[in-house]
Amino acid sequence: MKKLKTYYSHFRSHNHPPNKWIFPLAVGSVVSIFLIFLTTLTSPTATRSSSPLPVSLLPPPPRFAYLISGSVGDGNMIKRTLLALYHPNNVYVVHLDRASSESERLDLQNFVNGFHLFNKFSNVKMITKANLVTYRGPTMVANTLHAAAVLLREGGDWDWFINLSASDYPLVTQDDLLDAFSYLPRDLNFIDHTSNIGWKEFQRAKPIIIDPGLYMSKKADVFWVTQKRSVPSAFKLFTGSAWMALSRSFIDYCIWGWDNLPRTVLMYYANFLSSPEGYFHTVICNAQEFRNTTVNSDLHFISWDNPPKQHPHYLNLADMQRMVDSNAPFARKFPREDPVLDKIDSELLSRNPGMVTPGGWCIGSRKNGSDPCSVVGNTTVLRPGPGAKRLGSLITSLLSKEKFRPGQCK
Ligand SMILES: *[C@@H]1O[C@H](CO)[C@@H](O)[C@H](O)[C@H]1NC(C)=O
Ligand SMILES: *[C@@H]1O[C@H](CO)[C@@H](O)[C@H](O)[C@H]1NC(C)=O
Ligand SMILES: *[C@@H]1O[C@H](CO)[C@@H](O)[C@H](O)[C@H]1NC(C)=O
Ligand SMILES: *[C@@H]1O[C@H](CO)[C@@H](O)[C@H](O)[C@H]1NC(C)=O
Repeated sequence: MKKLKTYYSHFRSHNHPPNKWIFPLAVGSVVSIFLIFLTTLTSPTATRSSSPLPVSLLPPPPRFAYLISGSVGDGNMIKRTLLALYHPNNVYVVHLDRASSESERLDLQNFVNGFHLFNKFSNVKMITKANLVTYRGPTMVANTLHAAAVLLREGGDWDWFINLSASDYPLVTQDDLLDAFSYLPRDLNFIDHTSNIGWKEFQRAKPIIIDPGLYMSKKADVFWVTQKRSVPSAFKLFTGSAWMALSRSFIDYCIWGWDNLPRTVLMYYANFLSSPEGYFHTVICNAQEFRNTTVNSDLHFISWDNPPKQHPHYLNLADMQRMVDSNAPFARKFPREDPVLDKIDSELLSRNPGMVTPGGWCIGSRKNGSDPCSVVGNTTVLRPGPGAKRLGSLITSLLSKEKFRPGQCK
């Protein structure tokens, strides 16, 4: 694909954020260029503009830190999702909860330890001390925070944390995602949220639940306490999707806890039904230093009933076009080994069974179905395809004047 000349200006550094800046986003390397003007994150007006800089000064690709977790029977889907998401410069944590058997966990561990690329780049880790995770309980958030902490400690310098399950799958290649995110300020947080909690006030905020997963050694469902509590007045409740891409700085804030908010809100959510749909949302929107970094999207294609039921539709071949048209980088939920996953592999990811999704770093032959990634080239070279263009239009729309600011913590 023909490389086009792209420009950027005043890319915001982690350490020295200018007070005011203007940010033309150019997702290059695909046939069409699009530009958006994302005005300052921390100040309501942007006044500075600047002259173009040459291509060689384009920001380096970011790095993603992924958690892929699942429960009993999910082992093979975790392997498949991991291969589909793999890139040598990212870091990955996989987790099979304690409801799965010892042998299933061992099988996943052997896969992680034995796959040549994972060995070569040492960037995939399995949490072997498996957690007990209760569906809808706070142990789900604890599991996510656990993985985030492992990634902070052992994952080097990554930029975004993305939490996925075994029933999620990508609709774009990592080269597409890395390319599109190259042009974004690293402190953006993609999190679908609202303070309009509606029916959840009575069904979620007021009831008090206990998750036995916090203190029992065997799995049991959450139970309800007879008393109710009032809606918080010390902070405002937010709710939204349990799927998100969170910035390094926000994960630092949540895990280190130098401000007490993430800790007290976590303790509050210990007794809240479906805490993954509220914990990060409530923390981020009540933290002045982070609320302006929110982008109101979970970056997922999810097919809900109308009105929504507890679970979304399982996706199948009939959903293929709608998935592509959504421009979303991820979709859920997929039944294990559904034929639509094969179609995504061949049409969107160019991925062969048992192999990773090829990218600019793969320089081997593709002849006779051989794996191009068996020969590793320069791992910072990206070869974005049509997925980068789709993702570019999604991001442009999410960061538009109509959607970006007006969608923040309302
Ligand atoms: C966030 O944005 C609002 C409105 O644009 C602004 O008034 C406020 O000062 C910003 N907060 C921070 C911490 O930058
Ligand atoms: C993270 O991933 C798991 C998948 O196992 C999911 O169930 C959970 O709700 C997700 N979100 C959060 C905020 O923990
Ligand atoms: C591909 O397979 C054909 C026949 O199966 C063989 O003749 C050819 O040498 C192979 N090419 C490569 C590059 O391995
Ligand atoms: C790898 O590619 C990057 C960007 O395309 C380039 O700046 C760098 O010099 C290359 N590294 C090597 C070792 O060739």
